Amino acid sequence: MTAVATLPDYREQSPAVAERFRKLKQRPVVLSVRGLGKTFGSTEGTVTALQGLDFDVYRREFMCVIGQSGCGKSTLIRILSGLEQPTSGELLLDGKVVHGPGPDRGMVFQSYTLFPWLTVKQNVMFGPKMAGRTGTAVEQEARQWIEMVGLSDFENSYPFQLSGGMKQRVAIARALANQPRILLMDEPFGALDAQTRAQMQEYLLQIWKNIDITILFITHDLDEAVFLADRILVLKAKPGRIDEIIEVPVPRPRSLDQAIDPEYLATKHRINELIHPREQRGGGGVEIPRMTMAGDEVE
Ligand SMILES: Nc1ncnc2c1ncn2[C@@H]1O[C@H](COP(=O)(O)OP(=O)(O)OP(=O)(O)O)[C@@H](O)[C@H]1O
Ligand SMILES: [Mg+2]
Repeated sequence: MTAVATLPDYREQSPAVAERFRKLKQRPVVLSVRGLGKTFGSTEGTVTALQGLDFDVYRREFMCVIGQSGCGKSTLIRILSGLEQPTSGELLLDGKVVHGPGPDRGMVFQSYTLFPWLTVKQNVMFGPKMAGRTGTAVEQEARQWIEMVGLSDFENSYPFQLSGGMKQRVAIARALANQPRILLMDEPFGALDAQTRAQMQEYLLQIWKNIDITILFITHDLDEAVFLADRILVLKAKPGRIDEIIEVPVPRPRSLDQAIDPEYLATKHRINELIHPREQRGGGGVEIPRMTMAGDEVE
């Protein structure tokens, strides 16, 4: 019998976990997605990237979205941010229908998007300035956000003088400086090495804990999703639709030591089952020609 077979079912919630999610769902809904669909037209035909998505994100919830490559994660976040228009359905922010981009939604992308010709502080002040705010109050606020992401010593540095992790911390500060209702993050740590990535996850949880922000975070990393999320929205591909919404039973505050706890492993195992179904595992059906001698086997 494998170790996995002895894991508990993540859906069998303890009373404490059930209570945690009951309380979460009593909070006001910040983002409501209703019947959302997106079809792209091209010369080769049409692609239905998303179909009939319905879900709510509650105030100060940390929701992760996970799914195979091409299942529509980036399309979803681009629609939520207003960069793309849905083909059907609607989005409500604090109960009001939204169309197009707005400062109520902050974005952090995987690629580094800081303005290279501006310093850290100028990058963070950019949004408030565009909104017509001026004066020392804006500068002081920018300094607070920079302090929040631990970069006070670098406020006058330029992006090229920063590491990848530092750039993403500035990107988070810049998004938060607009005081959005929700932070939309598309694989923001995807380009970082494993150690920096783990540090950034811890940083982000600390920031989330300390300010009134709701987060929707896209990832394809199972551990990242289980470590960060209250709930994980698992998407199925072709067309992109909701497969399951997982309520993560792992208690907070989270630590890397929990990665060997049964509820952590059970949750991760369930996501793995959903996004890598058994029938799709094992080399993806590709026949590899043998180029070694008989008897020259490896395990
Ligand atoms: N502008 C576009 N025009 C045509 N098709 C598109 C466009 N953008 C996305 N698609 C298609 O929509 C589907 C979903 O793409 P999307 O980029 O949202 O996937 P994803 O889940 O973010 O993938 P990944 O994990 O690789 O980032 C894919 O089949 C993709 O080819
Ligand atoms: Mg993507």
